[in-house]
Amino acid sequence: MLAAVIQFLRVSKRFAAGPLALDEVTFEVGCGEFVFLTGDSGAGKTTLLSLIYRAVLPTSGSVLVNGRNVGSIPRKKVPYLRRTIGIVFQDSRLIRRKTVYENVAYLPRILGYSADRQREVALDVLERVGLAERASAFPAQLSGGEQQRVAIARALANDPAVLLADEPTGNLDPDLSQRIFRLFVDAHRRGTTVVVATHDPQAISSFPARVLRLSQGHLVEDSSREKTAPPVDGVTVR
Ligand SMILES: Nc1ncnc2c1ncn2[C@@H]1O[C@H](COP(=O)(O)OP(=O)(O)OP(=O)(O)O)[C@@H](O)[C@H]1O
Ligand SMILES: [Mg+2]
Repeated sequence: MLAAVIQFLRVSKRFAAGPLALDEVTFEVGCGEFVFLTGDSGAGKTTLLSLIYRAVLPTSGSVLVNGRNVGSIPRKKVPYLRRTIGIVFQDSRLIRRKTVYENVAYLPRILGYSADRQREVALDVLERVGLAERASAFPAQLSGGEQQRVAIARALANDPAVLLADEPTGNLDPDLSQRIFRLFVDAHRRGTTVVVATHDPQAISSFPARVLRLSQGHLVEDSSREKTAPPVDGVTVR
């Protein structure tokens, strides 16, 4: 196994009064792995991702990112954890009043990069997602798929060790979904650890990656336990 970037050790999560959203979930994700997280609505996918960037804390068990227990990071250090993680949500969550460029350059700016470096990083990631020429547009002037590509560019702008995506193609047609998935594969090829939550069986079958499946809070399938680890190279998307 590669050095673990994400480790869940018997992690359970209960939201107030509800049933267990996650029940004793244990797995590791190695450095540079590509993992699909799947399962029916309500299975616990968003909860699992939220635990990784400490949007929620576990009820019991431990979540480690790069060997650090995220539950015991002091609150004021949480931004440092989040800087190592890029996050893409289903609904892109772009800032409406900022241009594409400003949305993407935002993190490099608050990280204190020089103006030249901000520009270089923002244009590089926009180039990667094929939207450099739309840098001065506002989100409302873009299609849903384009907005999602900007959200991916934003998530990549600080060169995160880990890229998390929660149903990033939930609102898109199959061709656009393929295009979006290619961007995750591209990030994976550059060495980023990628975890993508998706319901989409077509996306999962189009790319030979590890699959973790949740059902009612239980981890019921881990394809890496059934066969040897998937190849890191030679991956293809239609
Ligand atoms: N903030 C919250 N407060 C209370 N219950 C919650 C909260 N977030 C999630 N839950 C519950 O935890 C369970 C898992 O929800 P979660 O959002 O993780 O599922 P999911 O697999 O992401 O589903 P979907 O595919 O619909 O996005 C559900 O029963 C949900 O109602
Ligand atoms: Mg969800």
